[in-house]
Amino acid sequence: MMTRKKIGTLFIGLLAGIGLLAQQVDSNFHLYLLIGQSNMAGRGMPDAESKELNSNILMLDSLNHWVPATDPVHYDKPKAAGVGPAIAFAKAMLQENPHIKIGLIPCAWGGSPIKAWTPGATYFAAHPYDDAIQRTIIAQQKGVLKAVLWHQGESDNDSSHASRYMGKLSSLVQQLRKDLAQPQLPFIAGEIGHFNNVDFINPVIRQLPQIVRFTAVVSSKDLTHKGDNLHFDAASARELGRRYAAALQTITAGESKNPKPPIMGWSSWNHFRIHINEAMIREQADAMIASGLYEAGYRYINIDDGYFGGRDRLGNLFANAKFPSGMKALADYIHGKGLKAGIYSDAGKNTCGSIYDKDSLGIGVGMYDHIVQDCHSFFTDWGYDFLKVDWCGGQKQKLDEQTEYTKIINAVKAINKDIVFNVCRWQFPGEWAIKQADSWRISGDIRDNFSSILKIIDLNADLYQYASPGHYNDMDMLQVGRGMSYEEDKTHFSMWCMFNSPLLAGNDLRSMSKQTLEILSNKELIAINQDIAFVQAQRVFKENEVEVWVKRLGNGNQKAIAIMNRSGKDQTISFSAEKLGIDPQSTLRDLWLHKNIGKIGAAQTFMIPRHGIVVLNAN
Ligand code: GLA
Repeated sequence: MMTRKKIGTLFIGLLAGIGLLAQQVDSNFHLYLLIGQSNMAGRGMPDAESKELNSNILMLDSLNHWVPATDPVHYDKPKAAGVGPAIAFAKAMLQENPHIKIGLIPCAWGGSPIKAWTPGATYFAAHPYDDAIQRTIIAQQKGVLKAVLWHQGESDNDSSHASRYMGKLSSLVQQLRKDLAQPQLPFIAGEIGHFNNVDFINPVIRQLPQIVRFTAVVSSKDLTHKGDNLHFDAASARELGRRYAAALQTITAGESKNPKPPIMGWSSWNHFRIHINEAMIREQADAMIASGLYEAGYRYINIDDGYFGGRDRLGNLFANAKFPSGMKALADYIHGKGLKAGIYSDAGKNTCGSIYDKDSLGIGVGMYDHIVQDCHSFFTDWGYDFLKVDWCGGQKQKLDEQTEYTKIINAVKAINKDIVFNVCRWQFPGEWAIKQADSWRISGDIRDNFSSILKIIDLNADLYQYASPGHYNDMDMLQVGRGMSYEEDKTHFSMWCMFNSPLLAGNDLRSMSKQTLEILSNKELIAINQDIAFVQAQRVFKENEVEVWVKRLGNGNQKAIAIMNRSGKDQTISFSAEKLGIDPQSTLRDLWLHKNIGKIGAAQTFMIPRHGIVVLNAN
């Protein structure tokens, strides 16, 4: 086996030959380093599919030769090795880009604990880390390394190892990036099976994207084992592989394209329900500018339910008598102010207002059977920029939501991809929505009380895995300035920012208090909501109804940290850097006090009022 020193010599030798080798490197040959333990190596029972060959998927065999990939891809324990995630991963990557070849570099070792994945460490006769580096360097003679796929944790799945795991995992990522000279090399970790008898490790693994940039974690939810409560069966191993591909594609898309941030604006529903009219909407647009909200980044004036008048003989929609100039003139007015205009409909025949607000004009005006026609009204004829599509009519007709929403989204995006689309189905709609829709509601309607706020936060807590740059969990329109206390409003607004939810004010902008305006226009909080990493916060700590939420920001190593007090009493609590999930050297800024508060040191004490929050930026 190679020693560290020999690897160094090999590395220098390879560098010396780089002039020659460079000519042979094919930029369309994408390499993936596979490391970890048995579930990465693959333990599923080989079947007919395992024998299928795809000429565009190769693997580096034990003798460092490129050969067509088949399961078992790994050779760590020849008697046990079987179907793993690698080939399904490669197939999914090829589906996304058929013009490439994939090179798999299998280096996982069944049973290896994370401590075996450090330079110089041995595991039986192997040096897992050193061998992985060596084989990757050899592979790079032919192709370009695109990512590391890691699946490990079963051998560290107890409380004492789990408590030290994150330190080891983040060092591993940094070490690999250093030794392979790729500081932004994507690293995708996978959860161990949810079927393991105990689970200390997954909660730790799930925090990786908060702690290290260009990383993602793949869920193993609903995957099944092969009968030993430890190893994925072949079908699950393949599904896991596809999830690795999706996670990687999300990271790459997020970093390279120009994703739309969560939208900011105002919506008529929370304050006015169906009692809306043209003059009032115009005044909201005026107030958005006059109040300074425009300056803080708010743009959308969204007309919710209540504008419908009916359909004419040709089936074209028209507005009711409270909109005498019509919907196009109203959009023109909004656009004339430099704002954007949003509109509302239902996937079924009838609107929600027709049921819950007894709006008889909401009957027969939903998009069902009129999808293309209504899209032409909304966007081509009237010029709206945003569409929210509700589900009351669809639910009543027992329509299939994926089918209906997909038809609508396709029709909308065929007119203009920049139109922002919101699915309003009052719960997480399902994975079908997460790449098609710009946002999707995850809850029933928000109320102007603190328990409604907490309920929505809890519903969203684990949905971070579905959000990605340009695609967000929508926690519903804001209730700031509509009856909750100042502290409650601040908590509500802060958490919507931490979660990348759209920020749609739901109060009457013409008559808001100074405090409401102060909250809605807190630019330091808004910057967290619009931050370019577009990563949703995750809960890292919970005790006595105090919770710490961390959101990784896109700028260097910055993070936003929210300390939220759910309880009905003020609480004074001391936090160490570790408890807050930050580096002890970070400097902190309080985003409500707009004040730098220095380094955290050994610990810092915070007073968090009842139902209140402290939001910090750690740099
Ligand atoms: C549903 C939606 C609300 C609002 C109303 C309109 O309840 O969830 O946000 O759009 O319909 O009737």
